[in-house]
Order: sequence, then C-alpha cells, then structure tokens
Amino acid sequence: MQVLITLILVLGFVSPCLCARWNLEETSDNYTFNVVQYGARGDGKSDDTQAFLMAWNSTCGVTQGQATLVIPPNLSFLVNNLIFEGPCKASSIIIQVYIANSLLIDGGGNGSIDGSGSTWWDCASCPRPPVLHFHACNDFSVANLKVGNGPRSHIAIDGCNNAKFSNLLVNASSTSPNTDGFDIASSKYILIEDSIISTGDDCIAINGGSSFIDATRISCGPGHGISVGSLGKNNVHETVEEIHVHNISFIGTTNGARIKTYPGGSGYAKNITFEQINLTNVTYPIIIDQHYAKISPQDSNVLVSDVTYRGFNGTSASGIPIKLDCSSLG
Ligand SMILES: *[C@@H]1O[C@H](CO)[C@@H](O)[C@H](O)[C@H]1NC(C)=O
Ligand SMILES: *[C@@H]1O[C@H](CO)[C@@H](O)[C@H](O)[C@H]1NC(C)=O
Ligand SMILES: *[C@@H]1O[C@H](CO)[C@@H](O)[C@H](O)[C@H]1NC(C)=O
Ligand SMILES: *[C@@H]1O[C@H](CO)[C@@H](O)[C@H](O)[C@H]1NC(C)=O
Ligand SMILES: *[C@@H]1O[C@H](CO)[C@@H](O)[C@H](O)[C@H]1NC(C)=O
Ligand SMILES: *[C@@H]1O[C@H](CO)[C@@H](O)[C@H](O)[C@H]1NC(C)=O
Ligand SMILES: *[C@@H]1O[C@H](CO)[C@@H](O)[C@H](O)[C@H]1NC(C)=O
Ligand SMILES: *[C@@H]1O[C@H](CO)[C@@H](O)[C@H](O)[C@H]1NC(C)=O
Ligand SMILES: *[C@@H]1O[C@H](CO)[C@@H](O)[C@H](O)[C@H]1NC(C)=O
Ligand SMILES: *[C@@H]1O[C@H](CO)[C@@H](O)[C@H](O)[C@H]1NC(C)=O
Repeated sequence: MQVLITLILVLGFVSPCLCARWNLEETSDNYTFNVVQYGARGDGKSDDTQAFLMAWNSTCGVTQGQATLVIPPNLSFLVNNLIFEGPCKASSIIIQVYIANSLLIDGGGNGSIDGSGSTWWDCASCPRPPVLHFHACNDFSVANLKVGNGPRSHIAIDGCNNAKFSNLLVNASSTSPNTDGFDIASSKYILIEDSIISTGDDCIAINGGSSFIDATRISCGPGHGISVGSLGKNNVHETVEEIHVHNISFIGTTNGARIKTYPGGSGYAKNITFEQINLTNVTYPIIIDQHYAKISPQDSNVLVSDVTYRGFNGTSASGIPIKLDCSSLG
C-alpha cells in the first residue's frame, strides 16, 4: 500500500531528534540509509541539506520491505528548505531521528505532509500509522505546517515533555474513521495553539498519563471535539491532570468539551478547565460520559474531579447543551 505520496518538510535548524516516523509496520527486510554515509557532517555549521536529500532519494527508492532514513544521535545537523518529496517506491518508510533537544520543524507556511490515508480508511483492523509520531521527544516545536489525510491519527505524541505546536492546519474528511487531529498520551507540558483542526474524529484527544496540556486559539470542526480520554479501557488505571482548554471555537462538531471514561477502569481525571468557548451547532457542547462505549453494566472507577467550564456561548444541535452521565462510584 502506498503510504507516503508527498512529503514536503521545510526544516529549520535541526539538532538530532525528529522522532517522527511513518508507518511502524515490522517487516523482515530493513534497508537503512544513514545521512552520515551520504556525507552529512553534523557539526552544526556545514550545510548538510544535500546529504539529507541523497539519503532521502535512496530511502524513497526502496522497492520492497522497510526503508529507514537514519539521522544519528549526538550530532547537530544544519539543513535548509529540506524537501522530502514523493511519490516513493517504498511502501513503508521510517524516519528515525534520535533523542536530543530543541528540534524545530517549521513548514514555513506552505509545508505540508499528506498522509494519503484514504486507502486505509476501509480497513479498521489494519495497523494504520499516524502521519507524524513523536515518541520520547523533549523540547521541540512544530509550526506552520499542514498535515492531512491521516490513515489514523495525524499527530501522535507519547512519552514527550515540553513541546509546542503552532499554526497547524490539520485536515481530513469528516467521514474518515479514527482520524484524530492530535493524540496525546503519557506526555506533559504540551501546548497546541493557533490551529485549525477538521477531521473525522477528536480534534484533540488527551489520553492517560498526560498532564499540563494547554490548547488555545483553536478552531475545531468538523470532528468529535476536544476530549479527555477515553480513560480506563480494558480495566487499566490511568490518570490525566492539569488540562487547560481555552479560547476555542467548535463548529459543527458532535461534542465540545468532553470527558470519557470506560466502565471497569480506574484512576482519575482532575483539574481540567474549559473556558472561552464558542460553539456553533455542536451536538453535545459539554459532556461527561463515564459509561463510554457501554461495554458492560459495570461502573467506571475513574474519578473525575475539579472540572471547570466557564464562558461557553453558542448553539447546540441536539437541544442538550450539557450531558453528564457520571459513575455512581465517584
Ligand atoms: C531498521 O533498522 C533501524 C536502524 O538500524 C532500526 O532502528 C529499526 O528498528 C529497524 N526496523 C525494523 C522494522 O527492523
Ligand atoms: C536516486 O535514487 C535512484 C535509485 O532509487 C538512483 O537511480 C538515482 O541515481 C538517485 N539520484 C540521485 C540524485 O542520487
Ligand atoms: C550520545 O551522547 C550521550 C550523552 O553524551 C551518551 O550517553 C551516548 O552513549 C551517546 N551515543 C552515541 C551513539 O554515541
Ligand atoms: C506559499 O506559496 C505561494 C504560492 O506558491 C507563494 O506565493 C508564497 O510566497 C509562499 N509562502 C511562503 C511563506 O513560502
Ligand atoms: C480539507 O480536506 C477536504 C477534503 O477532505 C478538502 O476538500 C478541503 O479543501 C481541505 N481544506 C483545506 C483548508 O485544505
Ligand atoms: C481568541 O482566539 C481568537 C482567534 O482564534 C483571537 O482572535 C482572540 O484574540 C483570542 N482571544 C483571547 C482572549 O485570547
Ligand atoms: C489546577 O491547575 C492550574 C493551572 O492549570 C493551577 O494553577 C492550579 O493550582 C491547579 N489546582 C489544583 C487544585 O491543583
Ligand atoms: C468567540 O466569540 C467572541 C464574541 O463573539 C469573540 O470575541 C471571540 O474571539 C471568539 N473566540 C473564538 C475562539 O473564536
Ligand atoms: C447542525 O448539525 C446537524 C447534525 O448534527 C445537521 O443535521 C444540521 O444540518 C446542522 N445545521 C446547520 C445549520 O449547519
Ligand atoms: C454569544 O454569541 C452570539 C452569537 O453567536 C453573540 O452575538 C454574543 O455576543 C455572544 N455573547 C458573548 C457573551 O460572547
């Protein structure tokens, strides 16, 4: 399956750590291309753009198996207007950048990454990759970029600390399945600002292990709204705390400010504030669903507390502006 058709990234100064990967499928054939083998110096002063492009060309040209572009650790690469372009012969590409700090991915306004996800949308059980995956990355920012048509979620963030996403346009059809804009888990100090998110699922999903998440000046819709959870699936213990969602417009979404927890699970969601919210034709502007997916008659043991809703204004499509379906356990 063709995953990566067009990929245009304009990178600013890059220290090693993109931690962004496309397609995590495991295969036995693994062809790796290290930018250093293509002449990249990694001294932070030489222009390594050509070496990156040559390594990309080889990666893109792999005809079978897994192609991996490796940007090695402990070096500092200076690249300018780097454009990773397709179509590629490789059906599965990983860009592996090792852990470091202060990565900036700047699309310069016209940069875009197309996940070409439509071929995956009919296959719910396929291992659909996120378009951008930040795993165990610290201190990075992503700005001025379009990310669209994800096979599944567009920007997945897990195990990260201190990241900023600004001026992003995330766009997929309202009927595309599970195409969350942002999917955050086990991460803290993540800021998402000044962005437009229209997809077929949550604009932002804040999952277990997340704290100090700040979302502001975002237009969300179509989509399923901004969601804490779902928490406690398969009876696990999960926690989310210190969440601030403010100055958001929800347009034609199924939910606005949402908290969802599974029956059977445990943990907590606390100190969550939603404020300065404009709503246009939103089905459930405020919703807490502690019987999410109604998988069993059991109650959810995920404790929801210290939730503040302030300054909501707008219209509800259902006539039910506030829907609270809480657990009897707390
Ligand atoms: C491919 O090789 C890279 C670099 O050696 C490695 O990190 C990665 O895990 C390998 N991928 C697979 C699917 O084996
Ligand atoms: C790009 O890679 C192809 C093989 O996939 C090769 O034939 C071609 O020479 C390469 N071009 C450059 C500029 O390296
Ligand atoms: C990179 O640097 C870190 C800390 O300086 C060190 O622990 C690690 O072994 C280095 N990795 C490589 C591959 O040189
Ligand atoms: C974006 O693309 C348009 C049209 O190609 C061009 O006019 C504009 O200068 C570009 N903007 C940036 C910031 O590169
Ligand atoms: C968003 O994607 C839809 C198709 O799903 C497309 O029609 C629309 O032009 C895109 N919007 C932007 C702003 O790119
Ligand atoms: C709210 O967001 C809008 C645009 O999304 C912006 O124009 C306005 O200044 C913001 N207001 C505050 C109080 O931040
Ligand atoms: C809740 O979070 C806010 C900041 O997001 C913080 O100022 C406040 O002290 C927290 N309250 C509690 C009870 O933890
Ligand atoms: C919400 O509406 C108010 C008044 O109509 C406006 O001042 C504010 O900027 C809007 N906020 C957003 C995020 O659109
Ligand atoms: C409001 O949303 C409902 C579905 O939730 C839709 O049927 C209706 O057309 C929408 N109204 C407007 C004015 O967009
Ligand atoms: C609420 O929204 C309506 C229009 O959507 C606007 O006229 C009104 O000023 C808003 N009120 C506040 C308090 O922002």
